[in-house]
Amino acid sequence: MKALITAGGKGTRLRPITHTRNKHLIPIANKPILHYAIEYVAEAGIRDVGIIVNADTEDVQKAMGDGSRWGLRIRYIPQQAPLGLAHCVKISEEFLGKEPFVFYLGDNMVVGGIRRFQEEFLARKSNCHLTLARVKDPERFGVPEIQGDRIVRIVEKPKVPASRYAVSGIYFYDSTIFEAVNAIKPSARGELEISDAHQYLLDHGRKVTFSEITGWWKDTGLPDDLLEANRLILDHIEANDPKDAAVDGESNIAGKVILMPGARIINSNIRGPAIIGARTVIENSYVGPYTAIAEDCLIRNSEVEFSIVLAHCAIRDIGIRIEGSLLGCDTTLERARAKPRTHRFVLGDQGMVEIA
Ligand code: DAU
Repeated sequence: MKALITAGGKGTRLRPITHTRNKHLIPIANKPILHYAIEYVAEAGIRDVGIIVNADTEDVQKAMGDGSRWGLRIRYIPQQAPLGLAHCVKISEEFLGKEPFVFYLGDNMVVGGIRRFQEEFLARKSNCHLTLARVKDPERFGVPEIQGDRIVRIVEKPKVPASRYAVSGIYFYDSTIFEAVNAIKPSARGELEISDAHQYLLDHGRKVTFSEITGWWKDTGLPDDLLEANRLILDHIEANDPKDAAVDGESNIAGKVILMPGARIINSNIRGPAIIGARTVIENSYVGPYTAIAEDCLIRNSEVEFSIVLAHCAIRDIGIRIEGSLLGCDTTLERARAKPRTHRFVLGDQGMVEIA
């Protein structure tokens, strides 16, 4: 079995972070989102992986390499423009050949990996095996209409959803999927929709089965989804033995906390689950649960909770707790010293600030 993982697209709903970084390289608990997809695939015993990348940059290739660190062989498949998920499958036909494969959307995260779904797909000898997750907002997703134990229809982002389920971005196919992706036409938004390919299989009497994802599953399409995914991953971490980190006698570390090498905690309280990146300094501060701070940051005289802070950020002397925040690399937040005391911002396009 092979795997096809997506890491292309424009990530418009995650701007401004995605102005300078591919969405799949944004860290969740200090690890790029795409690593989770790659790890799930490796755990499922798959060795040959194709990754769809935007044709105009090499950022994903540089970050992931040839796959050998996971025992995988990675082939990068450039996509000229984000022409849809069925287009991703279509341009990968030569790589996938006649083998069954998992098609994994690189921005999806699922606790427990994909093995149980893979086994069901193989045992049931389906042409297409989908995974469904119960969600509050099905209109954001492909939505199945289910009768008895069968899917009878799938509609992409319907205004009036026929069920409370989303078709998640973890799909299993045999080579009949190529009949579908080669036959369907672009949708009104100009994309070859994967939901239309699934509908084609249903209309042509192919065997389409499904599993329900009963644990948590997340499509990290929006900033709040990133915070939520970060929370869920941090909930499952184990504290490490911070041999190469320095914690002074005035500091208190409570709960599950990972301190990366070179991190320094000075007169501060860290309450896990949390992760503090390499060489990051936390001084006279509080870092609360569900916070991931990347490498080479400085937090001084401040409080941060339920947030993601990317590399090289500085947060100094902020008088109010920072919560539910996502800070891109090299961001500085500090208290104004000069009079008059004003708020002063240097914000990139599509930034967002809420002031208490
Ligand atoms: O997450 C599940 C949902 O994913 C499904 O319920 C929907 O049926 C399916 O269409 C898809 O919807 P999204 O709107 O979330 O798809 P998005 O455009 O965000 O793309 C998903 C992933 O594929 C993401 O990793 C970006 C990448 N991508 C997307 C397109 C359209 C590509 O690499 N190339 C593309 O052409």
